[in-house]
Amino acid sequence: MSEILCVYYSRTGRTETLMREIAGELDCELVKLDDGVDRSGLGGWLNSGRQAMARKLPPVKPPKTKRPLEDYDLVIIGTPVWAGRCSAPVRSFLLEYGETLRQVAYVITRGSDMRYEEVFDQMDMYVCKPRAAAVTIRPNAVGSTFWRQEFLTAVRSIGKEKPDHAG
Ligand SMILES: Cc1cc2nc3c(=O)[nH]c(=O)nc-3n(C[C@H](O)[C@H](O)[C@H](O)COP(=O)(O)O)c2cc1C
Repeated sequence: MSEILCVYYSRTGRTETLMREIAGELDCELVKLDDGVDRSGLGGWLNSGRQAMARKLPPVKPPKTKRPLEDYDLVIIGTPVWAGRCSAPVRSFLLEYGETLRQVAYVITRGSDMRYEEVFDQMDMYVCKPRAAAVTIRPNAVGSTFWRQEFLTAVRSIGKEKPDHAG
């Protein structure tokens, strides 16, 4: 896997920390999404929850990547879970650019013990090819490091699978 991009949204820094670690391990580019919305404080929390529940699509600024998005072999997309869904800025990013991405993997962070794997299916609706890898992590919870490493192993193995009919 040669060219990988990590792109994410983070309101309070938990997804950001995890995506930084992942990008550091993979030695790849890391870009934060910006929708220009102030999501701080209780008002920001409520607005974010409402937008996620209503599947609102706040316009997201074009991510400042070194190459066009379609040039990356894999784009790893990080989002916090909001009201059981992916965050509104990430949904906007997927709607705007999802179809141009060659291959995707997902990282979701959450505050509870629920895994929210259905969020992966929601995100798959915006891309051409189902996800190549995905992980759901509650940052700082027991086992979170293990699941991060499992995800990294899965990402590193993408494209290295043996053909069905060798030789
Ligand atoms: C509006 C809102 C809704 C949330 N809904 C959920 C939820 O349904 N389930 C959950 O486990 N955590 C939920 N959380 C917690 C976040 O998913 C969790 O703290 C996440 O790691 C925060 O990531 P961030 O620091 O990158 O923003 C919610 C947080 C916000 C702001």
